[in-house]
Amino acid sequence: MKLKVCIAGATGWVGKPLCLAVSEADDLSLVGAVSRTHQGRNLRDVFGVSNFDLKVSGSVAEALDAPTDVLVDYTKADVVKANVLTAIRRGVHVVIGSSGLTDEDFVEINRAALEHQVGVIAAGNFAITAVLLQRFACEAAKYLSHWEIIDYASDAKQDAPSGTTRELAFRLSEVRRPGVTHPVEGTIGEKESRGTTLNGTQVHSLRLPGYVIGVEAIFGAKDERLSIRHDAGSGAEPYIQGSLLAIRKVRDRAGLIRGLDKIME
Ligand SMILES: NC(=O)c1ccc[n+]([C@@H]2O[C@H](COP(=O)([O-])OP(=O)(O)OC[C@H]3O[C@@H](n4cnc5c(N)ncnc54)[C@H](OP(=O)(O)O)[C@@H]3O)[C@@H](O)[C@H]2O)c1
Repeated sequence: MKLKVCIAGATGWVGKPLCLAVSEADDLSLVGAVSRTHQGRNLRDVFGVSNFDLKVSGSVAEALDAPTDVLVDYTKADVVKANVLTAIRRGVHVVIGSSGLTDEDFVEINRAALEHQVGVIAAGNFAITAVLLQRFACEAAKYLSHWEIIDYASDAKQDAPSGTTRELAFRLSEVRRPGVTHPVEGTIGEKESRGTTLNGTQVHSLRLPGYVIGVEAIFGAKDERLSIRHDAGSGAEPYIQGSLLAIRKVRDRAGLIRGLDKIME
């Protein structure tokens, strides 16, 4: 039987190609699509392609009135948490693509998922190259004690740091906390110029035209530096395969799994 999938943010940069990919997969069926702007319209007319016959819902709560196995959220930082908890409370498994959730949010989501015995998979970045960056950076952190992160994104991105950066800081903290030579609190001048501290790591967010999304982990040691950097291009294709993998795996285990690499192996 096909897995019934609902996509919140269906008309977005990632949501649209993901709708197309789900509808083309033999084992998946697109049963729900959420977009406030296109509420009530047929997705066929919104996309201008014939292989859809699905009415767009204005909210996740409305869309989940149709029997659904998995909700995928690619919306915005201000609504993702409410969408995720709505789905969990209805016994629907969730794949989280949206950024903006904090470590505390993930604790709450995990608790709710365990209580309702549903699976949740969240990845700050569903691209394989971003998974590799995470892996290489964690390897470097075993040998190099001092690092900081630069988070690059377009000027239109509303949340900061990016989901990719949050997840990287979280992962590095699982290896160890970075060394601190001069504490941030003791900065002479504007402390804010040292960035924010996430899981012990100093993070600096740039928001400028010309960037899509990128992250750079910089490791410093005596007389040398190592930079490990990921830059996304302008298309959403890199996130589609990872999202499909998460959709297929999310029912395997109750509770939250954070990071694409955790389901790749
Ligand atoms: N994990 C990853 O690999 C990955 C990759 C790329 C992007 N992202 C993240 O995924 C999210 C979506 O990115 P995107 O570039 O696809 O965004 P986008 O192009 O702006 O699309 C956002 C989608 O969400 C809907 N939406 C926006 N605000 C909403 C709200 N308040 N309530 C309900 N729906 C809302 C929009 O439709 P309406 O305005 O019509 O409602 C649209 O369909 C962002 O958080 C981004 O950082 C994650």
